[in-house]
Amino acid sequence: MKARDLKEKFINFFVAQKHIEIPSASLTPENDPTTLFISAGMHPLVPYLLGQPHPLGKRLTDVQKCVRTGDIDEVGDGYHHTFFEMLGNWSLGDYFKTEAISWSYQFLTKELNIDPKNLHFTCFEGDQDAPKDTESHDLWLKQGIPEERIHYLPKKDNWWGPAGSVGPCGPDTEMFIDTNPNIGEIDFQTGCKQGRIIEIWNDVFMQYYKDENGKFSEMKQKNVDTGMGVERTTAILSGFSDNYLSDIWQPIIKAIEVFTPKKYEDNPKIFRIIADHLKAAVFIIADGVEPSNKEAGYVLRRLIRRAVRQGKLLGIENNFTVPIATAILKNQGNYAGVYLELNQNRDRIFSVLENEENKFRKTLNNGLREINKLIENKKIKSIKNQDNSLLNISGKEAFTLYESFGFPIEMVEEELQKNNLTLNKEEFEEAKLAHQKQSQTLSAGKFKSGLANNSEIITKYHTATHLLHSALRKILGDNVQQSGSNITSERLRFDFSHSEKLTDDQLKEVQDLVNQQIKLDLPVVIETMPFVEAQKQNALAFFGNKYPETVTVYTIGSAENYFSKEVCTGPHVTRLSELGNFEIIKEESAGSGKRRIYAILK
Ligand code: ALA
Repeated sequence: MKARDLKEKFINFFVAQKHIEIPSASLTPENDPTTLFISAGMHPLVPYLLGQPHPLGKRLTDVQKCVRTGDIDEVGDGYHHTFFEMLGNWSLGDYFKTEAISWSYQFLTKELNIDPKNLHFTCFEGDQDAPKDTESHDLWLKQGIPEERIHYLPKKDNWWGPAGSVGPCGPDTEMFIDTNPNIGEIDFQTGCKQGRIIEIWNDVFMQYYKDENGKFSEMKQKNVDTGMGVERTTAILSGFSDNYLSDIWQPIIKAIEVFTPKKYEDNPKIFRIIADHLKAAVFIIADGVEPSNKEAGYVLRRLIRRAVRQGKLLGIENNFTVPIATAILKNQGNYAGVYLELNQNRDRIFSVLENEENKFRKTLNNGLREINKLIENKKIKSIKNQDNSLLNISGKEAFTLYESFGFPIEMVEEELQKNNLTLNKEEFEEAKLAHQKQSQTLSAGKFKSGLANNSEIITKYHTATHLLHSALRKILGDNVQQSGSNITSERLRFDFSHSEKLTDDQLKEVQDLVNQQIKLDLPVVIETMPFVEAQKQNALAFFGNKYPETVTVYTIGSAENYFSKEVCTGPHVTRLSELGNFEIIKEESAGSGKRRIYAILK
């Protein structure tokens, strides 16, 4: 089966069950400083799982772009990916286990035509936080699944979430498929261990909230959150045990083969890493990230550099990331036709890749020069002293090369081998470990203070966003409506409806107006009121008419003469003087009829 067909079937099936299809959110979380990337379909829906009404209703379905950075080192086998797509359906306090399980079963057996005899199911066995999930177990029985193919497992297997360190989570029931039933029966545990029985779908019954202290409390709203990985399911339904053989990956693999006489079969691991890393990089760049030495930018840098490095192992010495990215963008049905941000950011994707590849190749060349210098010096010394042991490169010296020049250790080894020298790997690992310990201690401290500062600065940007929104409306008119917002500890990003590029004068006017309010040190007042009252008071609220009865409203200024009034969940500063100076750093298009502003506080 093609990936596109699977996605279409899934969405159509849930739309027929009265779900509304929503677009994939950006890979970089909006207003969530605790994680770098969206890692599951539920992740952008957290506020709605917690009770905020979603403008499109209580039943949603989508294909969400995801990045899991914990798996970068695992990539290279047949089934790990950094970037992947997740299919999901959600009930936001609407249906629960009965419907979720019945629809999952119908979709697997009727839409995907999987023989029920090849399916296994697991349910949560219960612990001090939540009871045994006999309800799910009995619902599977009701579908006709025999008892021996329904298994109870502990929290480590049958509990999902939260996505970051806190948030909604709950027990789940997982669906597994025996991928090779023709060679005889196998018990569930052994089948899983051998990789023959594979999980393909997860229904999470998201009714708990995990707080900062690790405590679970029951939420008022009982939700369903499901997740099916597109890459894995496509491969299984196509009869492949290697995900990279499916139509999702083959065009990319073929594009890599153009650059080397080697074929995928010769060294699948290297091809997989290159394809995976460059695909993830393309999507991450499309969502606005640039390579840097921290956070999401660092992940991006690592992905590109690892791909280039792996390319070298295939003998690829010329720049190749842009042609591979072209192949990724060309994979129309799967990507560029669906994720419009790819073609919209085509030029930027290419220039970011090209620049980073150039930079890294230069680093590698410098490193190469250093290592050869070192080898030459050793040779001279050993000849002078007639002592061959002086030829050895110590682990510490190798570590310095690795650390100072970003020179991969395998390459240090290769260079030494060329000169008939060997590396003391043990010593190298010791030096690396000592360095890691030291930097862990350092970053533990940094992380702590970073987080504290983070939430403070994020709060400031949140308030600055309200100011910007009002200032834009006052200067450009009421046609300006917020259509998106993204805050990091470095800047705010604000998307709004407006059809023309802003002139320099307009930008200056907006910036000055915001700074004027900050100078006035206006108070920020929080009130709770019925939504109808908020509307009467003209509070801005642009999520359709799906607000709860009672809402919080933030007013900047006095009740009679305010600068901004918005329905919002906060948090905000209490006085504007806390913000400092506001500066617009960039204005650009954010799609048709939409503009985007980046601004910082200094
Ligand atoms: N959030 C669940 C998962 O990622 C569905 O598996």
